[in-house]
This record gives sequence, structure tokens and C-alpha cells, in this order.
Amino acid sequence: MSKDMDLKKHIRSIPDFPKPGILFYDISTLLAHPKAWHTTIERLADLIRPHKPDVLAGIESRGFLLAAPLALALGTGFVMLRKKGKLPGMTVRHTYALEYGTDTIEIQQDAVHKGARVVLVDDLLATGGTMAAAVELLESVGAVVPTAACIIELTFLEGRKKLKPPVETLLQYD
Ligand code: PRP
Ligand code: MG
Repeated sequence: MSKDMDLKKHIRSIPDFPKPGILFYDISTLLAHPKAWHTTIERLADLIRPHKPDVLAGIESRGFLLAAPLALALGTGFVMLRKKGKLPGMTVRHTYALEYGTDTIEIQQDAVHKGARVVLVDDLLATGGTMAAAVELLESVGAVVPTAACIIELTFLEGRKKLKPPVETLLQYD
């Protein structure tokens, strides 16, 4: 599907959100365009497939938008990494620094089998704090994380240096 489509044309940048000096890359316009969104999912699926995932893990909330259709495309299950207090039963949590503020993510203790290959999925890599926390969380419940994948990488923030696994990104901004 649409091999030559320029996905950057479908991502809107909004200055000074959520605070002055931050340029926010908004995927709403990508989601709203069926062909661009389909192409996004297909290209990410192609990047993830060689890592042979058993399961995909999506990071609440924008990571969920990707992980669910990608899991269907790749024929895997989908595990939720949620913000604190949302998951029932025994959970493990991790607090981390964001580009702005702090946050806590949580996983159900029995969400993945020991040794399962779990590919992490989110929309955007900025400082890498969110993905680094998610990798730690997944490893703490016994997962192996062969790669992390997202649509947008803010290369000037060098977030990938914070991560143990390699990161597959579709679009880079500097
Ligand atoms: C945004 C984005 C990534 C994260 C990237 O999520 O969706 O998850 O920040 O930043 P980092 O690499 O500096 O950690 P946010 O927590 O704003 O919430 P949302 O996904 O619920 O919109
Ligand atoms: Mg997010």
C-alpha cells in the first residue's frame, strides 16, 4: 500500500504545546487519514516482523493506538502497559521522568510468559524515559525485549541512547 507516501505530510506540528518552547508532533491528522494510517501500520509491521515477536506491548495511551492494529497485522497478542491504578490484580510499577513532568507505568505481574519476546510499541521517542521505563518493567516480569518501535523519533533528544534494545523508528525529526 502507498509505497511512496510521505507520512510526514500527515503529521501536524504545534508550537508551544503542552508548554512554551515545546514543538508537539500531533498524530491526530495521521489517524484521521485512512490511507496514511494504514501505511503507517504496514511500515511499522514490516520493521517489527524480523524481530519475531510473541507479543506486542503498547504504552498508554497513544501507544495503544498502534499496538492493537499492529498485533492484528502480525498475528500476536497485545499487552497493556498502563498508567498507575488502572490494572486489576497483582501489578509491577515503575516511575520515570518525562520530557515534561513524571509518570508511572504498570503491568500485570502475569501478563507475559517468562522468556517471551515482547516488542514494545509507542507513538513517539523523545527523551526515551518512557520507553526505558517500559523495557525495565517488561524485563522485571520475565520478558525479553528484542526491539522497541515507534512512529516518530526526536533525534536531537538522543532518547535511543537510554535504551538497551535497538529502536525501529519510521520518521525522524531533528
Ligand atoms: C508521550 C508520548 C510518549 C512519551 C515520549 O506520552 O506518547 O509515550 O511522551 O516521551 P519520552 O521519550 O520523553 O518519555 P505522554 O506521557 O505525553 O502521554 P499520552 O501517550 O497518554 O498522550
Ligand atoms: Mg505516550
